[in-house]
Amino acid sequence: MRILVTGGAGFIGSHYVRTLLAGGYEGLGGYEGYTDARVTVVDKLTYAGNRANLPASHPRLDFVHGDITDRALLLDLLPGHDAVVHFAAESHVDRSVESAAAFVHTNVGGTQTLLDAALATGVRRVVHVSTDEVYGSIERGAWTEEWPLLPNSPYAASKAASDLIARSYWRTHGLDVSITRCSNNYGPYQHPEKLIPLFVTNLLEGEGVPLYGDGTNVREWLHVDDHCRAIQLVLTGGRAGEIYNVGGGNELTNRQMTQRILDLCGAEWSSVRHVADRKGHDLRYALDETKIREELGYEPRVSFAQGLADTVAWYRDNPGWWKAAKHGAEERTA
Ligand code: NAD
Ligand code: DAU
Repeated sequence: MRILVTGGAGFIGSHYVRTLLAGGYEGLGGYEGYTDARVTVVDKLTYAGNRANLPASHPRLDFVHGDITDRALLLDLLPGHDAVVHFAAESHVDRSVESAAAFVHTNVGGTQTLLDAALATGVRRVVHVSTDEVYGSIERGAWTEEWPLLPNSPYAASKAASDLIARSYWRTHGLDVSITRCSNNYGPYQHPEKLIPLFVTNLLEGEGVPLYGDGTNVREWLHVDDHCRAIQLVLTGGRAGEIYNVGGGNELTNRQMTQRILDLCGAEWSSVRHVADRKGHDLRYALDETKIREELGYEPRVSFAQGLADTVAWYRDNPGWWKAAKHGAEERTA
């Protein structure tokens, strides 16, 4: 078995690859049949990618520093691979508000190039990793996979476009591709531009935390390990052309999440700086994940209280990792 993973040096992709190489988690399973899989990671190593998120060397890992918009590279790499798991993307909403070009280039153009190369080289199976943000914002209830797409940020719009292109490669060309749409992930190795690692690392450095608007926006938080296990279930059992929501996390307002982080870091609400709201800020995300539960037996397993405490502890224990990402990025944009 040979798997090509795009974006495998990022937050979620690297968790997936580390887990796959480790043969899954003891007692939790989910990666059966893949314990001897060979993995090729293709990653451009943008500001969000870090080679150190993966083992420096591993007998079943090949790392390729490359761009998914590079068709010639993909045509060269893909032959011999049984499946592709596609994580590579520009992933941060605020960056897409500042400038959308890279989002369209990588998320739309890169996905189309990858699907085309997979088709040309006869790759048997593709999983396209997407997001709940393609549905827009929902005040009450939860999105099923049939919900219309109404993305609000350029990031979400670029992901929605890539989902539609993926589905079209199934409908037009018969490519065996499934699409996952997951809620907000948390866990170790997440870039400190995102809410949880930004707030935790600011507090660890004795700084305040910038809460957008009134902080009543709601997100559904799922541990990265549960997301990766869901992706593996879809890879092995998902149907071609189908979309699978991956939810079942913990629904919290940003104020509630901020309070949890303050508590875990031993800080007070006075550390919160109320700052201007994100442009076009989605109020609430909520997924109905009945389909993946009933069809594939998905069930989130990481308790939120434990997962969040472990995540905060990981950032406390790994300042070398996040200081490079945080202050390196600031220097580059200064
Ligand atoms: P990330 O920003 O941490 O990682 C993205 C990775 O893709 C990086 O390693 C980066 O170097 C690489 N990359 C970017 N452009 C590339 C290109 N042109 N060619 C090759 N590699 C490139 O993102 P993440 O949070 O790990 O998200 C991974 C995927 O999961 C994305 O597709 C995202 O839309 C989706 N997703 C994320 C979340 C979340 O909460 N983080 C939730 C649902 C879905
Ligand atoms: O829902 C899935 C999506 O979750 C993924 O597709 C995206 O790749 C991922 O980045 C994430 O998007 P969000 O915009 O929800 O995540 P972020 O961590 O940027 O923000 C979470 C919430 O916190 C959001 O309501 C905005 C708010 N926020 C964020 C930052 C960075 C703040 O209040 N202050 C901040 O400084």
